Amino acid sequence: MNAIEIKSLSKTYDLKRKDKLHILNNIHLNVKKGSVFGLLGPNGAGKTTLLKILLNISFYDKGKITILNQPHDCPNIKKRVNYLPEKPYFYPYLTGKDFLTYMASFYNNIQTSTIDDLLTEVGLKNQSNIKIHQYSKGMQQRLGIASCLLNEPDILFLDEPTTGLDPIAHKDICTIIRLLKEKEKTVFLLSHELSDIETLCDHIGILHQGNLIKTGPIENFVGSKEYKIIFSCVEGLPEDPALLHARLDKKTLTYTLLIPADEINIYISIASKYKLKTLSVENIQKKLEDTFHELIKINNI
Ligand SMILES: Nc1ncnc2c1ncn2[C@@H]1O[C@H](COP(=O)(O)OP(=O)(O)OP(=O)(O)O)[C@@H](O)[C@H]1O
Ligand SMILES: [Mg+2]
Repeated sequence: MNAIEIKSLSKTYDLKRKDKLHILNNIHLNVKKGSVFGLLGPNGAGKTTLLKILLNISFYDKGKITILNQPHDCPNIKKRVNYLPEKPYFYPYLTGKDFLTYMASFYNNIQTSTIDDLLTEVGLKNQSNIKIHQYSKGMQQRLGIASCLLNEPDILFLDEPTTGLDPIAHKDICTIIRLLKEKEKTVFLLSHELSDIETLCDHIGILHQGNLIKTGPIENFVGSKEYKIIFSCVEGLPEDPALLHARLDKKTLTYTLLIPADEINIYISIASKYKLKTLSVENIQKKLEDTFHELIKINNI
């Protein structure tokens, strides 16, 4: 079942002299319920704009958006989603706890114990009575996440939640996202941190110049794990099917063989059988970063 369905979505801004600035072009996208979907793309690609349209806080020209099986502008959708903006604003002279208490007043029946639990969950228990203007960026980001969880949303939209955080805060935010996934929440994550996208997301999409140039499961963006083995054998390459694709480097008189990671044991037994001298073993895998750069290069207009 899909949590979000987007069909033929386009958005433009009017410029002077009847010109139009195309921001999003004919976007089609489905996000599965309970998945972590990562949207990435260069600065200005249209990611935040798309997110604001989904949240019904920005207009669009044409298209159809369904959230949790309802049109996205249905008022009751607001109770079931939440959003951490790119630059969240907090009332600086409230304490973290007061801020959450204030935010909780927008919903029905949120207990004080829920607020305390959330402060603990995001690691702010000991700072809950400090005024927000004394919070570091990481503490503010944690508070922002806690505030987004007040209404136990089914879908959480996070706009670059880890930008500018130290490695500890960064890891904590990633852990919170993992916990949300375990609770079968849907997370729509915008991020420039490709390693986060790679480790957290089930499906991803790449947005470039307003076009969704590729979407799919993460496996479609990273290569399968392989070993690159360099070996030598004094008596020439044995005739064995497992060594069929070994490539000879005439300069060094060594052989290079690429094998799937789960076939390493086959190589080990063959190396022992034919007395091959293993010179190096390198674990290689095409990373999301490689795919990202390739796709952006191909699609540059
Ligand atoms: N109010 C506006 N009027 C005109 N153009 C706008 C407006 N808001 C955004 N844009 C343009 O829309 C495009 C997409 O902006 P958006 O903020 O969605 O990008 P983004 O992918 O989120 O970028 P980043 O990674 O830097 O956050 C940009 O070219 C931006 O200049
Ligand atoms: Mg943005």
